Amino acid sequence: MAPPASKRPPRARRNKKRRATASAKPWSGRFAEPVDELVKRFTASVSFDRRLAPYDIDGSLAHARMLAARGIIARSDLDAIERGLAKVRREIESGTFEWSLEAEDVHLNIERRLTALVGEAGKRLHTARSRNDQVATDIRLWLRAEIDAIDRQLATLERALIDQAGRHAAVVMPGFTHLQVAQPVTFGHHLLAYFEMFERDRDRLADCRRRLNRLPLGAAALAGTTFPIDRARVARELGFDGVCENSLDAVSDRDFAIEFCACASLAMVHLSRLAEELVLWASPRFGFVHLPDRFCTGSSIMPQKRNPDVPELVRGKSGRVFGHLVALLTLMKAQPLAYNKDNQEDKEPLFDAVDTLKDSLAVFADLVAGLEPLPQAMREATLQGFSTATDLADYLVRKGVPFRDAHEAVARAVREAEASGRDLSALPLKALQRHAPQVGRDVYRFLTPEGSVASRNHIGGTAPAQVRAAVRRARARLGAKRKA
Ligand code: ARG
Repeated sequence: MAPPASKRPPRARRNKKRRATASAKPWSGRFAEPVDELVKRFTASVSFDRRLAPYDIDGSLAHARMLAARGIIARSDLDAIERGLAKVRREIESGTFEWSLEAEDVHLNIERRLTALVGEAGKRLHTARSRNDQVATDIRLWLRAEIDAIDRQLATLERALIDQAGRHAAVVMPGFTHLQVAQPVTFGHHLLAYFEMFERDRDRLADCRRRLNRLPLGAAALAGTTFPIDRARVARELGFDGVCENSLDAVSDRDFAIEFCACASLAMVHLSRLAEELVLWASPRFGFVHLPDRFCTGSSIMPQKRNPDVPELVRGKSGRVFGHLVALLTLMKAQPLAYNKDNQEDKEPLFDAVDTLKDSLAVFADLVAGLEPLPQAMREATLQGFSTATDLADYLVRKGVPFRDAHEAVARAVREAEASGRDLSALPLKALQRHAPQVGRDVYRFLTPEGSVASRNHIGGTAPAQVRAAVRRARARLGAKRKA
């Protein structure tokens, strides 16, 4: 509503202000007074969305080529736009581009510079387009490239896990449930559990990429455009699989950003679980692994300390990414169709989710490659919790004892061993036979950690032979993904 006449500034002053701002904003023709300084800063996004610049230029080039091919702009305009955008790209890459808050965001900054460089033609670039479909296109292009980079990083981490698993396929360690020694497993088997998690992460990201890879451009502000555009051509040039089918959805949809943050959150959960295990394993109480010095820090007061800062930080940073997921869900949940300025808030969470995941993956690939297991400590811990008790019960079952009775007999044997401070495998045959007369001399083969793991010899089992086979299959899966 216009302010009452009495509150308005005199006509002369209004006109002066109007002239002063007419060139500042591409939309300032509509307004009677300049935008408040604070509001300018509050609404600008150039401080963070400038990282979309290379994709903004790619999108503009494809759009301009289509406009020329359809006769919407002249060939000579296209030439000027191509020449100008090439220069803008060089300026941005070399750091000489002058970003201005005045121009609000990455799109208007680039368009303004283009127009300064090539004149009229620059002003024709925005024909049949809006910043709404432009920004939706830019983010999709940017995120697609980041997903591809993250996929490569996940593959590198997977390779480090597979290499370690192959090297340590026969190293026994305690497997835990409730963080209590449960049954012996092999270190290689344990590491390959993470390979499976990261494989799922890659599959999920590929799925997210598939849905993301549609072109919003052509939706213009929200309703499409009156010009005879060729969206399929633009989609092809930008490597999209097709176009967004509905113009309202095209400019307002941020599902792909939310999906990405969900995928990234799960990947961070996996990294964080591995981080937690490394922190435990590297602690003197466990002493299962040695973390390379370059991943540890000392204490400024306690000279003896070697702190596992890197895994701790990855564990801590997972929270940021989960937070970004919730931020984006909340951002979207009450927006009416189509574009709203709220959407500008999609960028910082998304950018930080990408940066955090990439940094975490980069340090973890190195960390995993440099891990040194300490097999003797692992084996000793395996002997401390009667980890082969199930093996003794299974042995009795094979001798014809019903499982429940076998369980009972072994529980009694464990009690006796515990009372005398020995492992089951250290009880004499006579002692074992007192609890279960079916026990024979061959039992000791199954009561060592090595015997225990070797007998879990089926697909998905922890036997060294199975781990080696799983390593071969994992390598084949990695190779197949690389070719795909
Ligand atoms: N900087 C804006 C964003 O990130 C670009 C789109 C602006 N569109 C608009 N109608 N104000 O969302």
